[in-house]
Amino acid sequence: MQDGETRSVKVRDTGPFFPDTIYRGDALALLPEIPAGSVDLIVTDPPFAIDFRAKRTNYNRTGSRVLDGYCEVAPDEYGDFTNRWMEEAFRVLSPTGSLYVFSGWNRLKEVLCGLDRAGFHTINHLIWKFQFGVFTRRRYVTSHYHILFAVKDPLRYTFNKQDHYPEDVWFIRREYWKGKKKTATKLPRELVSRIIAYSSNPGDLVLDPFIGSGTVAVVAREMGRHFLGFEVSGEYYAFALERLREEGMHTGLTSERGDAEGEN
Ligand SMILES: C[S@@+](CC[C@H](N)C(=O)[O-])C[C@H]1O[C@@H](n2cnc3c(N)ncnc32)[C@H](O)[C@@H]1O
Repeated sequence: MQDGETRSVKVRDTGPFFPDTIYRGDALALLPEIPAGSVDLIVTDPPFAIDFRAKRTNYNRTGSRVLDGYCEVAPDEYGDFTNRWMEEAFRVLSPTGSLYVFSGWNRLKEVLCGLDRAGFHTINHLIWKFQFGVFTRRRYVTSHYHILFAVKDPLRYTFNKQDHYPEDVWFIRREYWKGKKKTATKLPRELVSRIIAYSSNPGDLVLDPFIGSGTVAVVAREMGRHFLGFEVSGEYYAFALERLREEGMHTGLTSERGDAEGEN
């Protein structure tokens, strides 16, 4: 650094949490412990409240290699669950922060209402089209997800344009992890890295309160961002921890908080 040059270093208060760490515990209990305004971007794929069987052998997968232990939310509790975490998401985001939330079509109305209720401004309704869906006989095959891109302040948010003409339908292939242990709902890295590139800057803090296999954490760190993640399922938490270690992210990982609270 030259004399007189100033370097902008974000000093942020992450409360009881270490940055670049995933915690095992219930997001509804842990989110309120994050200080207000401390997170730059939330990218999350919460449970969808569908009759989800993580071990089923669709998508040409071998069931025994798909991890069990996925935690679902009961359909009649989904509205309340969504409102509660979104209210906290709004509180923890910085004034220029953004939220990307994934949703299946069947619970979309709760997600859209939750965003409005929490005070978010929805900027885009993106469609993620993937390459296959579950075979059907009497209905169309679902081969897309919804991604809602929402901000706190529609006049001031990070948007690093990566393409000249960034359309709102993204065709991105799901990943096959051939021969490896896997989780049933893992997002493709390409999808997550696109979101992180558009809506955050190096050094920013990216939060995923429903981290699953840890994709958001892995990609955020790879791209020079900090991360924080929560996962209630012991199996998924252990899987994500192992994945982070395999990716060479050895530091700062702990399970103390959630475990100390006796979660799952
Ligand atoms: C759709 S998956 C996330 C998948 C993730 N994006 C990935 O790429 O692997 C949702 C995750 O949320 C977890 N979960 C469900 N309820 C939770 C809660 N109350 N707090 C924290 N995690 C929760 C589930 O166990 C599951 O692993």
